Amino acid sequence: MKKDHYILGIETSCDETAASIVKNGTEIISSIVSSQIQQQKKFGGVVPEIASRLHVEQITLVIQEALNEAKLVPSDLVAVTVTEGPGLVGALLIGINAAKAFAFANQLPLIGVHHIAGHVYANQLIHEMEFPLLALIVSGGHTELVVMKSHGSFELIGETRDDAAGEAYDKVARVLGLPYPGGPQVDQLALMSDEGIDFPRAWLEKDSYDFSFSGLKSAVINYKHNMEQKGGKINHAHVAAGFQQSVVEVLTVKTVKAAREYDVKQVIAAGGVAANQGLRKSLTAALEKEGIPFYVPPISLCTDNAAMIAAAGYEMWKSGVRNDSSMNGRPGMPLKSWN
Ligand code: KG4
Ligand code: ZN
Repeated sequence: MKKDHYILGIETSCDETAASIVKNGTEIISSIVSSQIQQQKKFGGVVPEIASRLHVEQITLVIQEALNEAKLVPSDLVAVTVTEGPGLVGALLIGINAAKAFAFANQLPLIGVHHIAGHVYANQLIHEMEFPLLALIVSGGHTELVVMKSHGSFELIGETRDDAAGEAYDKVARVLGLPYPGGPQVDQLALMSDEGIDFPRAWLEKDSYDFSFSGLKSAVINYKHNMEQKGGKINHAHVAAGFQQSVVEVLTVKTVKAAREYDVKQVIAAGGVAANQGLRKSLTAALEKEGIPFYVPPISLCTDNAAMIAAAGYEMWKSGVRNDSSMNGRPGMPLKSWN
């Protein structure tokens, strides 16, 4: 009988302290996420120092809970995987040091995972990835189109030249006076309105798969200022809907074009903004029309979690990737292929 392989995943790159046990890279046995949203809300965003302190308080409890829920002990595991970067350096270090200590104490291999590879591999927890595939990665720090020809191979074909999609959502939310984290709030507001303000779309050069969201963000700010100067009243739902229509249209059109050009077997979406209802609907409809299978994880696996780190870590473990105890937090870590 084939032996099952259990991997521990740890994620602390931003404002979630998370640990998870995943079986054979595809099955979640336990997934614990301790969110700092309530504590960070009053500051209107993530304060790095506070994030680190809260991770310190939570990390050992969260790891223990992941093991308890899975009814496993450390000797049942084959590896410890942890987000190595990108992210807040102080936050990353809490997870990395916990992973190092756990791996050392239990004589387990240690593997550092790229946070975005984790987001991509969240898909592996809901369906089999078939190659070549196109991944649209949209999070608070990233907006990228990546072609994967096999496991662990990432070819970047487009990225944002300024703000990430999630960053634009959070900034527009702040302009509209919505609480942190703004993305889900703008999404909700946008869904309430069929009508949207006509904001610009940044298509860039004809053949480019790059993105730009800073012009759109400025257009929203200018619209608000102009209306205020004229003494007019702003319809927040119209602003949210117009902003969302612009973001979603550009993301959808470029994703469909790339999927055609690279003749991919499937398209996957990953990252916090992949939780966006408007984007999910638009990509589903556009790719269905093209006859290209489209997958997006459930919302709880789009936002930060540790199961996705264990899923990516499992593929790295199978490929023989290992880190030693000199691993450090890498805030600007590039997404590199391991195969
Ligand atoms: O992947 P993630 O949880 O953390 C990073 O790796 O950055 O993404 C967080 C980002 C935030 O900017 C948040 O506002 C955005 O994802 N987000 C959304 C939605 N849910 C989360 N943006 C738009 N619509 C949503 N429903
Ligand atoms: Zn993330």
